[in-house]
Amino acid sequence: MRVLLLNLIEQTETDSTANNHAGEELWYQDAIFYEVYVRAFCDSSGNGHGDLKGLASKLDYLNDLGIDCLWLMPFYPSPLNDDGYDIADFYNIHPDYGSLDDFQGLVAEIHARGMRIITDLVLNHTSDQHPWFQAARSSRNSPYRNYYVWSDTKEKYKEARIIFVDTEESNWSWDEQAGQYYWHRFFSSQPDLNYDNPAVQDEMIKVMKFWLDLGVDGFRADAVPYLFEREGTNCENLPETHAYLRRLRRFMDENYPGRILLCEANQWPEDLRPYFGDGDEFHVGFHFPIMPRIFMALRKENVSPIEWIIERTPVIPDSCQWCIFLRNHDELTLEMVTEEERHWMWQEYAPEPRMRLNLGIRRRLAPLLDNNQKAIELLNSLLFTLPGSPIIYYGDEIGMGDDIWMADRDGVRTPMQWDTTLNAGFSESDPENLYSQVIENDTYAPDQVNVADQRKSSGSLFSNISKMIAVRKQSPVWGRGDFRWASTSTEQVAAYFRSYLGERILVVNNLSSSSQDISIDLHTGSTGMMVDLFTGKKYPVSKRDELRLTLEPYQYLWLTDGVGL
Ligand code: GLC
Repeated sequence: MRVLLLNLIEQTETDSTANNHAGEELWYQDAIFYEVYVRAFCDSSGNGHGDLKGLASKLDYLNDLGIDCLWLMPFYPSPLNDDGYDIADFYNIHPDYGSLDDFQGLVAEIHARGMRIITDLVLNHTSDQHPWFQAARSSRNSPYRNYYVWSDTKEKYKEARIIFVDTEESNWSWDEQAGQYYWHRFFSSQPDLNYDNPAVQDEMIKVMKFWLDLGVDGFRADAVPYLFEREGTNCENLPETHAYLRRLRRFMDENYPGRILLCEANQWPEDLRPYFGDGDEFHVGFHFPIMPRIFMALRKENVSPIEWIIERTPVIPDSCQWCIFLRNHDELTLEMVTEEERHWMWQEYAPEPRMRLNLGIRRRLAPLLDNNQKAIELLNSLLFTLPGSPIIYYGDEIGMGDDIWMADRDGVRTPMQWDTTLNAGFSESDPENLYSQVIENDTYAPDQVNVADQRKSSGSLFSNISKMIAVRKQSPVWGRGDFRWASTSTEQVAAYFRSYLGERILVVNNLSSSSQDISIDLHTGSTGMMVDLFTGKKYPVSKRDELRLTLEPYQYLWLTDGVGL
Protein backbone atom coordinates (compact mmCIF):
# COMPACT_ATOMS: atom_id res chain seq x y z
CA MET A 1 0.00 0.00 0.00
CA ARG A 2 1.21 3.46 -0.82
CA VAL A 3 0.88 5.63 2.22
CA LEU A 4 2.25 9.09 1.75
CA LEU A 5 2.81 10.78 5.02
CA LEU A 6 3.77 14.36 5.17
CA ASN A 7 7.08 13.85 6.93
CA LEU A 8 8.05 11.60 4.05
CA ILE A 9 7.04 14.30 1.63
CA GLU A 10 9.10 16.85 3.47
CA GLN A 11 12.15 14.65 3.17
CA THR A 12 11.79 14.49 -0.58
CA GLU A 13 10.92 18.14 -0.98
CA THR A 14 14.34 19.07 -2.28
CA ASP A 15 13.92 16.98 -5.37
CA SER A 16 10.24 17.71 -5.76
CA THR A 17 10.82 19.82 -8.84
CA ALA A 18 12.44 17.03 -10.77
CA ASN A 19 9.78 15.45 -12.86
CA ASN A 20 9.85 11.97 -11.44
CA HIS A 21 7.08 10.56 -13.59
CA ALA A 22 7.49 8.61 -16.77
CA GLY A 23 6.88 10.41 -20.02
CA GLU A 24 8.88 13.60 -19.63
CA GLU A 25 7.60 14.91 -22.97
CA LEU A 26 4.11 14.96 -21.42
CA TRP A 27 5.37 17.10 -18.52
CA TYR A 28 2.42 19.46 -18.82
CA GLN A 29 0.03 16.67 -17.83
CA ASP A 30 1.53 16.58 -14.35
CA ALA A 31 2.53 20.20 -13.97
CA ILE A 32 1.33 22.71 -11.41
CA PHE A 33 1.10 26.05 -13.22
CA TYR A 34 1.29 29.50 -11.65
CA GLU A 35 0.18 32.71 -13.31
CA VAL A 36 2.46 35.67 -12.62
CA TYR A 37 1.80 39.29 -13.34
CA VAL A 38 5.40 40.53 -13.53
CA ARG A 39 4.44 44.12 -12.75
CA ALA A 40 2.80 43.02 -9.50
CA PHE A 41 5.24 40.45 -8.19
CA CYS A 42 8.48 42.02 -7.04
CA ASP A 43 10.20 45.31 -7.86
CA SER A 44 14.01 44.97 -7.81
CA SER A 45 14.78 48.43 -9.18
CA GLY A 46 12.66 50.53 -6.85
CA ASN A 47 10.72 52.19 -9.67
CA GLY A 48 7.39 51.03 -8.29
CA HIS A 49 6.81 48.38 -10.96
CA GLY A 50 7.55 44.70 -10.53
CA ASP A 51 10.22 43.50 -12.92
CA LEU A 52 11.95 40.45 -14.33
CA LYS A 53 14.85 40.61 -11.88
CA GLY A 54 12.38 40.90 -9.02
CA LEU A 55 10.59 37.80 -10.23
CA ALA A 56 13.94 36.00 -10.54
CA SER A 57 14.62 36.82 -6.89
CA LYS A 58 11.40 35.05 -5.86
CA LEU A 59 11.87 31.81 -7.75
CA ASP A 60 12.87 29.88 -4.64
CA TYR A 61 9.53 30.81 -3.13
CA LEU A 62 7.71 29.39 -6.15
CA ASN A 63 9.95 26.35 -6.22
CA ASP A 64 9.26 25.67 -2.54
CA LEU A 65 5.54 25.97 -3.20
CA GLY A 66 5.96 23.23 -5.77
CA ILE A 67 5.31 25.18 -8.94
CA ASP A 68 6.45 23.46 -12.14
CA CYS A 69 5.66 26.04 -14.76
CA LEU A 70 5.19 29.80 -14.65
CA TRP A 71 2.93 31.62 -17.05
CA LEU A 72 4.02 35.22 -17.40
CA MET A 73 1.40 37.72 -18.49
CA PRO A 74 2.61 40.11 -21.22
CA PHE A 75 5.78 42.05 -20.39
CA TYR A 76 6.37 43.58 -23.83
CA PRO A 77 6.55 47.28 -24.71
CA SER A 78 3.00 48.54 -24.52
CA PRO A 79 0.99 51.64 -23.66
CA LEU A 80 -0.67 49.37 -21.07
CA ASN A 81 -4.25 50.21 -21.99
CA ASP A 82 -4.99 46.53 -21.53
CA ASP A 83 -2.18 45.83 -19.09
CA GLY A 84 0.19 44.68 -21.79
CA TYR A 85 -2.26 42.69 -23.93
CA ASP A 86 -1.92 45.71 -26.21
CA ILE A 87 1.55 45.03 -27.56
CA ALA A 88 3.56 47.75 -29.30
CA ASP A 89 6.64 45.62 -29.98
CA PHE A 90 6.60 41.83 -29.99
CA TYR A 91 10.38 41.58 -29.71
CA ASN A 92 11.29 43.45 -26.58
CA ILE A 93 10.63 44.02 -22.88
CA HIS A 94 8.68 46.91 -21.43
CA PRO A 95 11.40 49.20 -20.04
CA ASP A 96 9.74 49.28 -16.61
CA TYR A 97 10.22 45.52 -16.33
CA GLY A 98 13.83 45.19 -17.48
CA SER A 99 15.65 44.10 -20.60
CA LEU A 100 16.06 41.10 -22.87
CA ASP A 101 19.20 40.25 -20.91
CA ASP A 102 17.12 40.16 -17.75
CA PHE A 103 14.67 37.89 -19.51
CA GLN A 104 17.41 35.47 -20.49
CA GLY A 105 18.70 35.56 -16.94
CA LEU A 106 15.22 34.75 -15.66
CA VAL A 107 14.79 31.83 -18.05
CA ALA A 108 18.15 30.42 -16.98
CA GLU A 109 17.24 30.73 -13.30
CA ILE A 110 13.87 29.06 -13.86
CA HIS A 111 15.44 26.18 -15.75
CA ALA A 112 18.22 25.82 -13.19
CA ARG A 113 15.50 25.01 -10.65
CA GLY A 114 13.87 22.40 -12.89
CA MET A 115 10.92 24.68 -13.52
CA ARG A 116 9.54 25.89 -16.83
CA ILE A 117 8.21 29.13 -18.22
CA ILE A 118 5.53 29.92 -20.76
CA THR A 119 4.75 33.41 -21.99
CA ASP A 120 1.70 35.10 -23.44
CA LEU A 121 1.41 34.94 -27.20
CA VAL A 122 -1.08 37.59 -28.22
CA LEU A 123 -1.99 36.60 -31.76
CA ASN A 124 -5.27 38.33 -32.34
CA HIS A 125 -4.36 42.00 -32.13
CA THR A 126 -1.68 44.60 -31.49
CA SER A 127 -1.72 47.96 -29.77
CA ASP A 128 -2.76 50.87 -31.95
CA GLN A 129 0.71 52.18 -31.06
CA HIS A 130 2.38 49.27 -32.85
CA PRO A 131 4.43 50.52 -35.84
CA TRP A 132 2.42 48.18 -38.11
CA PHE A 133 -0.80 49.94 -37.21
CA GLN A 134 0.81 53.36 -37.39
CA ALA A 135 1.99 52.57 -40.92
CA ALA A 136 -1.32 50.95 -41.83
CA ARG A 137 -3.42 53.92 -40.84
CA SER A 138 -1.12 56.41 -42.54
CA SER A 139 -1.69 55.23 -46.12
CA ARG A 140 -3.82 52.86 -48.14
CA ASN A 141 -0.68 52.01 -50.07
CA SER A 142 1.36 50.98 -47.06
CA PRO A 143 2.31 47.29 -47.14
CA TYR A 144 1.00 47.21 -43.56
CA ARG A 145 -2.50 48.43 -44.47
CA ASN A 146 -3.57 44.87 -45.07
CA TYR A 147 -2.17 43.73 -41.70
CA TYR A 148 -5.45 44.91 -40.18
CA VAL A 149 -9.13 44.56 -41.04
CA TRP A 150 -10.67 47.69 -42.60
CA SER A 151 -14.06 48.64 -43.89
CA ASP A 152 -15.87 51.71 -45.20
CA THR A 153 -18.95 50.83 -43.18
CA LYS A 154 -19.77 49.19 -39.86
CA GLU A 155 -22.06 46.70 -41.54
CA LYS A 156 -19.78 43.68 -41.80
CA TYR A 157 -19.66 40.75 -39.37
CA LYS A 158 -22.72 41.87 -37.46
CA GLU A 159 -23.14 38.50 -35.80
CA ALA A 160 -19.90 38.85 -33.84
CA ARG A 161 -20.61 39.61 -30.19
CA ILE A 162 -18.94 42.40 -28.26
CA ILE A 163 -16.67 41.06 -25.54
CA PHE A 164 -15.88 44.14 -23.46
CA VAL A 165 -19.53 45.13 -23.21
CA ASP A 166 -18.93 47.68 -20.47
CA THR A 167 -16.56 49.70 -22.64
CA GLU A 168 -17.16 49.07 -26.31
CA GLU A 169 -20.29 49.65 -28.36
CA SER A 170 -19.08 48.12 -31.57
CA ASN A 171 -16.32 45.92 -32.93
CA TRP A 172 -15.65 48.64 -35.49
CA SER A 173 -13.95 51.97 -34.73
CA TRP A 174 -13.44 54.89 -37.06
CA ASP A 175 -9.85 55.91 -37.70
CA GLU A 176 -9.65 59.51 -38.76
CA GLN A 177 -6.22 59.19 -40.28
CA ALA A 178 -7.04 56.05 -42.23
CA GLY A 179 -10.46 57.31 -43.30
CA GLN A 180 -11.90 53.86 -42.63
CA TYR A 181 -13.25 51.71 -39.83
CA TYR A 182 -10.99 49.04 -38.32
CA TRP A 183 -12.03 45.80 -36.66
CA HIS A 184 -11.31 45.00 -32.99
CA ARG A 185 -12.71 42.32 -30.71
CA PHE A 186 -11.38 43.91 -27.51
CA PHE A 187 -10.63 47.56 -26.66
CA SER A 188 -10.66 49.96 -29.60
CA SER A 189 -6.97 50.55 -28.85
CA GLN A 190 -6.35 46.91 -29.87
CA PRO A 191 -6.89 46.58 -33.63
CA ASP A 192 -7.27 42.98 -34.80
CA LEU A 193 -4.65 41.57 -37.10
CA ASN A 194 -5.83 40.33 -40.49
CA TYR A 195 -5.09 36.61 -40.66
CA ASP A 196 -6.26 36.44 -44.25
CA ASN A 197 -2.99 38.15 -45.03
CA PRO A 198 -0.24 35.48 -45.34
CA ALA A 199 2.31 38.08 -44.24
CA VAL A 200 0.56 38.36 -40.85
CA GLN A 201 0.54 34.61 -40.50
CA ASP A 202 4.28 34.49 -41.13
CA GLU A 203 5.01 37.44 -38.84
CA MET A 204 3.47 35.71 -35.85
CA ILE A 205 5.47 32.56 -36.47
CA LYS A 206 8.57 34.75 -36.42
CA VAL A 207 7.44 36.13 -33.06
CA MET A 208 7.08 32.62 -31.67
CA LYS A 209 10.49 31.64 -32.98
CA PHE A 210 12.09 34.62 -31.30
CA TRP A 211 10.85 33.66 -27.83
CA LEU A 212 11.37 29.94 -28.35
CA ASP A 213 14.98 30.70 -29.25
CA LEU A 214 15.26 32.59 -25.96
CA GLY A 215 14.30 29.36 -24.24
CA VAL A 216 10.63 29.63 -23.34
CA ASP A 217 8.87 26.31 -22.88
CA GLY A 218 5.79 27.38 -24.73
CA PHE A 219 2.99 29.88 -24.86
CA ARG A 220 -0.36 30.66 -23.38
CA ALA A 221 -2.03 31.68 -26.63
CA ASP A 222 -4.37 34.58 -25.96
CA ALA A 223 -7.87 34.95 -27.37
CA VAL A 224 -7.46 32.39 -30.13
CA PRO A 225 -11.08 31.95 -31.24
CA TYR A 226 -11.14 35.30 -33.00
CA LEU A 227 -8.30 35.18 -35.52
CA PHE A 228 -10.42 35.08 -38.69
CA GLU A 229 -13.66 36.79 -39.67
CA ARG A 230 -16.26 35.37 -42.03
CA GLU A 231 -19.59 36.91 -43.00
CA GLY A 232 -22.62 35.03 -41.75
CA THR A 233 -20.79 33.53 -38.75
CA ASN A 234 -20.14 34.74 -35.20
CA CYS A 235 -16.46 34.96 -36.22
CA GLU A 236 -15.38 32.51 -33.52
CA ASN A 237 -13.76 29.08 -33.80
CA LEU A 238 -13.69 29.18 -37.61
CA PRO A 239 -12.06 26.35 -39.59
CA GLU A 240 -9.51 28.83 -40.95
CA THR A 241 -8.52 29.67 -37.36
CA HIS A 242 -7.99 26.02 -36.51
CA ALA A 243 -5.96 25.49 -39.67
CA TYR A 244 -3.62 28.33 -38.73
CA LEU A 245 -3.29 27.14 -35.13
CA ARG A 246 -2.34 23.68 -36.40
CA ARG A 247 0.33 25.34 -38.48
CA LEU A 248 1.77 26.95 -35.33
CA ARG A 249 1.76 23.55 -33.66
CA ARG A 250 3.53 21.90 -36.59
CA PHE A 251 6.15 24.60 -36.47
CA MET A 252 6.74 23.94 -32.78
CA ASP A 253 6.74 20.16 -33.08
CA GLU A 254 9.21 20.25 -35.93
CA ASN A 255 11.59 22.76 -34.43
CA TYR A 256 11.03 22.82 -30.67
CA PRO A 257 9.70 19.48 -29.45
CA GLY A 258 8.66 19.37 -25.81
CA ARG A 259 7.40 22.95 -25.77
CA ILE A 260 3.70 23.56 -25.39
CA LEU A 261 0.76 25.61 -26.56
CA LEU A 262 -1.90 26.42 -23.96
CA CYS A 263 -5.20 27.57 -25.36
CA GLU A 264 -7.23 30.48 -24.06
CA ALA A 265 -10.62 29.94 -25.66
CA ASN A 266 -13.52 30.91 -23.44
CA GLN A 267 -15.98 28.50 -25.04
CA TRP A 268 -18.37 25.66 -24.30
CA PRO A 269 -16.71 22.24 -24.08
CA GLU A 270 -17.96 21.12 -27.49
CA ASP A 271 -16.40 24.21 -29.08
CA LEU A 272 -13.22 23.77 -27.08
CA ARG A 273 -12.73 20.19 -28.19
CA PRO A 274 -11.56 21.11 -31.73
CA TYR A 275 -8.70 23.15 -30.24
CA PHE A 276 -7.05 19.86 -29.30
CA GLY A 277 -7.51 18.55 -32.87
CA ASP A 278 -6.17 15.02 -33.21
CA GLY A 279 -3.46 15.89 -30.74
CA ASP A 280 -2.08 18.22 -33.39
CA GLU A 281 -3.34 21.61 -32.24
CA PHE A 282 -3.07 22.63 -28.56
CA HIS A 283 -1.38 20.54 -25.91
CA VAL A 284 -3.37 22.12 -23.12
CA GLY A 285 -6.61 24.08 -22.98
CA PHE A 286 -8.17 26.07 -20.16
CA HIS A 287 -11.44 24.49 -19.08
CA PHE A 288 -13.48 27.68 -18.80
CA PRO A 289 -16.97 26.27 -18.16
CA ILE A 290 -16.04 24.19 -15.13
CA MET A 291 -14.81 27.21 -13.19
CA PRO A 292 -18.11 29.02 -12.47
CA ARG A 293 -19.73 25.67 -11.74
CA ILE A 294 -17.26 25.00 -8.95
CA PHE A 295 -18.42 28.27 -7.37
CA MET A 296 -22.07 27.36 -8.00
CA ALA A 297 -21.65 23.96 -6.40
CA LEU A 298 -20.14 25.53 -3.31
CA ARG A 299 -22.86 28.13 -2.84
CA LYS A 300 -25.67 25.69 -3.66
CA GLU A 301 -23.99 23.07 -1.45
CA ASN A 302 -24.68 20.62 -4.23
CA VAL A 303 -22.40 18.74 -6.57
CA SER A 304 -24.77 18.75 -9.54
CA PRO A 305 -23.33 21.75 -11.47
CA ILE A 306 -19.91 20.05 -11.51
CA GLU A 307 -21.46 16.72 -12.49
CA TRP A 308 -23.33 18.42 -15.29
CA ILE A 309 -20.26 20.02 -16.82
CA ILE A 310 -18.07 16.96 -16.45
CA GLU A 311 -20.74 14.96 -18.22
CA ARG A 312 -20.61 17.50 -21.04
CA THR A 313 -16.81 17.56 -21.21
CA PRO A 314 -15.59 15.59 -24.20
CA VAL A 315 -12.75 13.13 -24.14
CA ILE A 316 -9.56 14.72 -25.42
CA PRO A 317 -6.59 13.04 -27.13
CA ASP A 318 -4.20 11.14 -24.84
CA SER A 319 -1.40 13.60 -25.36
CA CYS A 320 -3.55 16.58 -24.33
CA GLN A 321 -4.58 18.05 -21.02
CA TRP A 322 -7.13 20.40 -19.49
CA CYS A 323 -5.91 23.26 -17.38
CA ILE A 324 -8.27 24.14 -14.57
CA PHE A 325 -8.34 27.30 -12.52
CA LEU A 326 -10.35 29.08 -9.87
CA ARG A 327 -9.33 32.64 -10.65
CA ASN A 328 -7.06 34.52 -13.01
CA HIS A 329 -6.14 38.10 -13.89
CA ASP A 330 -9.48 38.74 -15.63
CA GLU A 331 -12.96 39.00 -14.22
CA LEU A 332 -14.46 35.68 -13.13
CA THR A 333 -16.08 35.13 -16.47
CA LEU A 334 -19.72 34.14 -16.67
CA GLU A 335 -19.87 33.72 -20.41
CA MET A 336 -20.19 29.95 -20.32
CA VAL A 337 -23.30 29.81 -18.16
CA THR A 338 -26.97 30.46 -18.93
CA GLU A 339 -28.45 33.92 -18.45
CA GLU A 340 -30.28 32.69 -15.38
CA GLU A 341 -27.14 31.16 -13.88
CA ARG A 342 -25.25 34.38 -14.54
CA HIS A 343 -27.80 36.41 -12.60
CA TRP A 344 -27.71 33.90 -9.80
CA MET A 345 -23.92 34.07 -9.67
CA TRP A 346 -24.01 37.87 -9.63
CA GLN A 347 -26.56 37.86 -6.85
CA GLU A 348 -24.57 35.37 -4.78
CA TYR A 349 -21.00 36.44 -5.45
CA ALA A 350 -21.28 40.06 -6.64
CA PRO A 351 -24.09 41.68 -4.70
CA GLU A 352 -22.62 45.17 -5.25
CA PRO A 353 -22.86 46.43 -8.84
CA ARG A 354 -19.23 47.56 -8.65
CA MET A 355 -18.18 43.93 -8.20
CA ARG A 356 -19.46 43.17 -11.71
CA LEU A 357 -17.52 43.76 -14.88
CA ASN A 358 -18.58 42.89 -18.41
CA LEU A 359 -20.16 39.43 -18.09
CA GLY A 360 -18.25 38.59 -14.95
CA ILE A 361 -17.11 39.39 -11.44
CA ARG A 362 -13.97 41.38 -10.62
CA ARG A 363 -13.08 39.78 -7.32
CA ARG A 364 -10.34 37.54 -6.04
CA LEU A 365 -10.79 34.08 -4.61
CA ALA A 366 -10.62 34.93 -0.90
CA PRO A 367 -13.16 37.81 -0.98
CA LEU A 368 -15.50 35.72 -3.15
CA LEU A 369 -15.56 33.20 -0.34
CA ASP A 370 -15.84 35.78 2.46
CA ASN A 371 -12.31 34.92 3.48
CA ASN A 372 -13.48 31.59 4.84
CA GLN A 373 -10.22 29.63 4.90
CA LYS A 374 -11.96 26.26 5.03
CA ALA A 375 -14.03 27.06 1.95
CA ILE A 376 -10.98 28.41 0.11
CA GLU A 377 -9.09 25.22 0.87
CA LEU A 378 -12.03 23.11 -0.22
CA LEU A 379 -12.05 24.81 -3.63
CA ASN A 380 -8.33 24.22 -3.85
CA SER A 381 -8.92 20.55 -3.08
CA LEU A 382 -11.23 20.45 -6.12
CA LEU A 383 -8.66 22.36 -8.17
CA PHE A 384 -5.90 19.88 -7.37
CA THR A 385 -7.91 16.69 -7.77
CA LEU A 386 -10.35 17.16 -10.64
CA PRO A 387 -8.99 16.05 -14.04
CA GLY A 388 -6.50 18.48 -15.53
CA SER A 389 -3.44 20.48 -14.58
CA PRO A 390 -4.15 23.16 -11.98
CA ILE A 391 -3.07 26.76 -12.27
CA ILE A 392 -2.81 29.14 -9.32
CA TYR A 393 -3.22 32.88 -9.77
CA TYR A 394 -0.48 34.77 -7.95
CA GLY A 395 -1.50 35.80 -4.46
CA ASP A 396 -4.39 33.36 -4.22
CA GLU A 397 -2.12 30.91 -2.38
CA ILE A 398 -2.12 33.39 0.53
CA GLY A 399 -5.71 34.55 0.05
CA MET A 400 -5.00 38.08 -1.14
CA GLY A 401 -7.84 40.57 -1.31
CA ASP A 402 -9.00 42.89 -4.08
CA ASP A 403 -10.21 46.44 -4.59
CA ILE A 404 -13.39 46.70 -6.60
CA TRP A 405 -13.04 50.49 -6.79
CA MET A 406 -10.02 50.34 -9.04
CA ALA A 407 -10.59 50.64 -12.78
CA ASP A 408 -11.25 47.68 -15.07
CA ARG A 409 -9.57 44.52 -13.68
CA ASP A 410 -6.85 46.41 -11.79
CA GLY A 411 -8.32 45.54 -8.41
CA VAL A 412 -7.26 41.88 -8.79
CA ARG A 413 -3.77 42.84 -9.97
CA THR A 414 -2.38 44.63 -6.92
CA PRO A 415 1.16 44.16 -5.51
CA MET A 416 2.05 40.76 -4.10
CA GLN A 417 2.07 40.87 -0.31
CA TRP A 418 5.37 39.44 0.86
CA ASP A 419 5.60 40.78 4.39
CA THR A 420 4.70 43.70 6.62
CA THR A 421 7.54 46.03 5.62
CA LEU A 422 7.16 49.05 3.33
CA ASN A 423 4.80 48.35 0.38
CA ALA A 424 4.24 44.81 1.65
CA GLY A 425 7.85 44.01 0.72
CA PHE A 426 6.96 44.38 -2.95
CA SER A 427 9.00 47.51 -3.64
CA GLU A 428 11.28 49.99 -1.93
CA SER A 429 9.87 52.91 -3.87
CA ASP A 430 7.93 55.77 -2.38
CA PRO A 431 4.37 54.39 -2.05
CA GLU A 432 3.18 57.20 -4.31
CA ASN A 433 5.21 55.78 -7.17
CA LEU A 434 3.80 52.27 -7.04
CA TYR A 435 2.03 51.15 -10.22
CA SER A 436 -0.89 50.30 -7.93
CA GLN A 437 -1.71 50.72 -4.30
CA VAL A 438 -1.21 47.78 -2.02
CA ILE A 439 -4.52 46.42 -0.69
CA GLU A 440 -5.33 48.31 2.48
CA ASN A 441 -8.37 47.16 4.33
CA ASP A 442 -8.91 45.53 7.68
CA THR A 443 -9.17 42.01 6.37
CA TYR A 444 -6.68 41.85 3.54
CA ALA A 445 -3.97 44.43 4.35
CA PRO A 446 -0.40 43.11 4.49
CA ASP A 447 -0.43 42.83 8.27
CA GLN A 448 -3.27 40.30 7.86
CA VAL A 449 -2.27 38.60 4.63
CA ASN A 450 1.37 38.09 3.69
CA VAL A 451 3.74 35.35 2.60
CA ALA A 452 6.21 35.62 5.49
CA ASP A 453 3.63 35.05 8.23
CA GLN A 454 1.84 32.28 6.38
CA ARG A 455 5.05 30.39 5.70
CA LYS A 456 5.72 30.34 9.43
CA SER A 457 2.30 29.06 10.37
CA SER A 458 1.51 25.38 9.84
CA GLY A 459 -2.24 25.96 9.63
CA SER A 460 -2.14 28.83 7.15
CA LEU A 461 -3.75 28.76 3.73
CA PHE A 462 -0.29 28.83 2.18
CA SER A 463 0.85 25.83 4.23
CA ASN A 464 -2.24 23.81 3.44
CA ILE A 465 -2.03 24.57 -0.27
CA SER A 466 1.67 23.64 -0.18
CA LYS A 467 0.72 20.32 1.41
CA MET A 468 -1.87 19.62 -1.29
CA ILE A 469 0.73 20.34 -3.96
CA ALA A 470 3.32 18.17 -2.22
CA VAL A 471 0.89 15.25 -2.02
CA ARG A 472 -0.20 15.75 -5.61
CA LYS A 473 3.38 15.64 -6.83
CA GLN A 474 3.89 12.18 -5.41
CA SER A 475 1.64 10.49 -7.92
CA PRO A 476 0.83 10.66 -11.62
CA VAL A 477 -2.75 9.68 -10.85
CA TRP A 478 -3.88 13.32 -10.67
CA GLY A 479 -2.57 14.44 -14.02
CA ARG A 480 -3.03 11.23 -15.93
CA GLY A 481 -5.56 9.09 -14.15
CA ASP A 482 -9.16 8.22 -14.92
CA PHE A 483 -11.97 10.02 -13.19
CA ARG A 484 -15.10 8.30 -11.91
CA TRP A 485 -17.82 9.62 -9.62
CA ALA A 486 -18.29 7.67 -6.41
CA SER A 487 -21.82 6.93 -5.32
CA THR A 488 -22.52 8.69 -2.08
CA SER A 489 -25.59 9.12 0.03
CA THR A 490 -25.71 12.91 -0.41
CA GLU A 491 -25.40 15.54 -3.12
CA GLN A 492 -23.72 17.90 -0.69
CA VAL A 493 -20.49 16.01 -1.19
CA ALA A 494 -18.36 15.78 -4.32
CA ALA A 495 -16.73 12.35 -4.14
CA TYR A 496 -14.78 10.69 -6.91
CA PHE A 497 -12.14 8.12 -7.67
CA ARG A 498 -8.96 8.93 -9.54
CA SER A 499 -7.08 5.88 -10.76
CA TYR A 500 -3.98 5.15 -12.76
CA LEU A 501 -1.73 2.14 -13.22
CA GLY A 502 -3.03 0.17 -10.29
CA GLU A 503 -3.36 3.10 -7.94
CA ARG A 504 -6.73 4.37 -6.79
CA ILE A 505 -7.50 7.43 -4.74
CA LEU A 506 -10.86 8.50 -3.39
CA VAL A 507 -11.40 12.24 -3.04
CA VAL A 508 -14.21 13.47 -0.84
CA ASN A 509 -15.15 17.15 -0.68
CA ASN A 510 -17.85 18.41 1.62
CA LEU A 511 -19.36 21.33 -0.30
CA SER A 512 -21.54 22.33 2.59
CA SER A 513 -21.19 24.55 5.62
CA SER A 514 -22.58 21.83 7.86
CA SER A 515 -21.15 18.47 8.85
CA GLN A 516 -22.22 15.49 6.79
CA ASP A 517 -22.54 11.81 7.61
CA ILE A 518 -22.04 9.93 4.42
CA SER A 519 -21.50 6.46 3.13
CA ILE A 520 -19.63 5.66 -0.04
CA ASP A 521 -19.85 2.46 -1.99
CA LEU A 522 -16.24 1.52 -2.76
CA HIS A 523 -17.11 -1.25 -5.20
CA THR A 524 -14.79 -4.17 -5.50
CA GLY A 525 -11.40 -4.77 -4.10
CA SER A 526 -11.25 -2.66 -0.98
CA THR A 527 -8.52 -3.74 1.42
CA GLY A 528 -10.59 -3.00 4.49
CA MET A 529 -8.85 0.26 5.20
CA MET A 530 -8.60 3.66 3.56
CA VAL A 531 -5.70 5.90 4.48
CA ASP A 532 -5.63 9.70 4.54
CA LEU A 533 -2.84 10.94 2.28
CA PHE A 534 -2.23 13.98 4.48
CA THR A 535 -2.30 12.55 7.97
CA GLY A 536 -1.96 8.78 7.62
CA LYS A 537 -5.21 8.40 9.55
CA LYS A 538 -6.95 5.10 8.83
CA TYR A 539 -10.64 4.72 7.99
CA PRO A 540 -12.12 1.22 8.27
CA VAL A 541 -14.21 -0.12 5.41
CA SER A 542 -17.21 -2.29 6.26
CA LYS A 543 -17.61 -5.86 5.05
CA ARG A 544 -20.17 -4.61 2.56
CA ASP A 545 -17.43 -2.54 0.99
CA GLU A 546 -18.86 0.65 2.32
CA LEU A 547 -16.99 3.59 3.76
CA ARG A 548 -18.77 5.66 6.38
CA LEU A 549 -17.48 9.13 7.11
CA THR A 550 -18.44 12.10 9.19
CA LEU A 551 -17.21 15.20 7.41
CA GLU A 552 -16.77 18.57 9.03
CA PRO A 553 -18.02 21.66 7.16
CA TYR A 554 -15.95 22.08 3.98
CA GLN A 555 -13.73 19.16 4.91
CA TYR A 556 -11.84 17.37 2.15
CA LEU A 557 -10.19 13.98 2.28
CA TRP A 558 -7.86 12.32 -0.19
CA LEU A 559 -7.87 8.62 0.67
CA THR A 560 -5.94 5.74 -0.80
CA ASP A 561 -6.65 2.03 -0.59
CA GLY A 562 -3.84 1.03 -2.90
CA VAL A 563 -6.27 -0.73 -5.19
CA GLY A 564 -6.62 -0.18 -8.91
CA LEU A 565 -9.91 -0.35 -10.70
C1 GLC B 1 -7.54 37.71 -22.93
C2 GLC B 1 -6.82 38.18 -21.68
C3 GLC B 1 -7.37 39.50 -21.26
C4 GLC B 1 -7.21 40.50 -22.38
C5 GLC B 1 -7.82 39.97 -23.67
C6 GLC B 1 -7.40 40.79 -24.85
O1 GLC B 1 -8.85 37.42 -22.69
O2 GLC B 1 -6.92 37.22 -20.68
O3 GLC B 1 -6.75 39.97 -20.09
O4 GLC B 1 -7.81 41.71 -22.03
O5 GLC B 1 -7.41 38.65 -23.94
O6 GLC B 1 -6.06 40.55 -25.15
